[in-house]
Amino acid sequence: MQYKRILLKLSGEALMGDRQYGIDPKRLSEYAKEIKQVIAKGIEVAIVIGGGNIFRGVAGAANGMDRVQGDHMGMLATCINGLALQSALEDEDVHTRLQTALEIKEVAEPYIKRKAIRHLEKGRVVIFGAGTGNPYFTTDTAAVLRAIEIDADAILKGTRVDGIYNVDPEKDKNAIKFETITFKDVIKKGLKVMDMTAFTLSEENKLPIIVFDMNTNGNLLKLVSGDKIGTIVNN
Ligand code: GTP
Repeated sequence: MQYKRILLKLSGEALMGDRQYGIDPKRLSEYAKEIKQVIAKGIEVAIVIGGGNIFRGVAGAANGMDRVQGDHMGMLATCINGLALQSALEDEDVHTRLQTALEIKEVAEPYIKRKAIRHLEKGRVVIFGAGTGNPYFTTDTAAVLRAIEIDADAILKGTRVDGIYNVDPEKDKNAIKFETITFKDVIKKGLKVMDMTAFTLSEENKLPIIVFDMNTNGNLLKLVSGDKIGTIVNN
């Protein structure tokens, strides 16, 4: 196996499947099955999930809502997604723990780094909810932060495109995909992988980011097994 401990970043939007809003149970169950395959290989899996399928603080602010208020709503949205994912994983008999950066301890454990690591060592999937617990930060930043804290080998950013291209592959069919690219080149070429806060945090801590297509069956397993899937960003 290429990796021993991974941090999987899933977008909230991905959970919508073909819907316009909310959670598609079919997509959720597909993701749970993908994750189960990886756990079965003895890989330790932590997950950060976004909340954009339910609420985005930035979008709220664009409509005149106080940004902090909006971000709090977004953080709660990630907890809803975390609970949904936890439930789907348990349906697949995968042991899980949900830890949240904001305390809602009747619902989930509070985030405690040492406990998270212990859960991972015991083969449990640890889902981190509520982002970083602070407004003005994205769940990408939360993913990088948690990945560094738990000493993950890499951050796997599951998307609907199969890597990083020189131009948007959904708009230009001549787009060229990078197999590997450095952090510096991503910035120089103006490519969008993550927001800058997340991106520089990853670069400074030499944490590789792999962008891959999470919606193709078996991709996650292939990736952790060492197949060249997606694009790897490293120093
Ligand atoms: P180990 O003792 O290391 O095996 O971990 P554990 O998670 O099994 O032990 P613990 O006794 O901490 O937790 C037992 C159950 O209670 C697990 O399902 C936890 O997710 C849950 N749990 C622990 N702390 C909290 C909390 O603060 N809030 C909520 N809602 N659940 C909690």
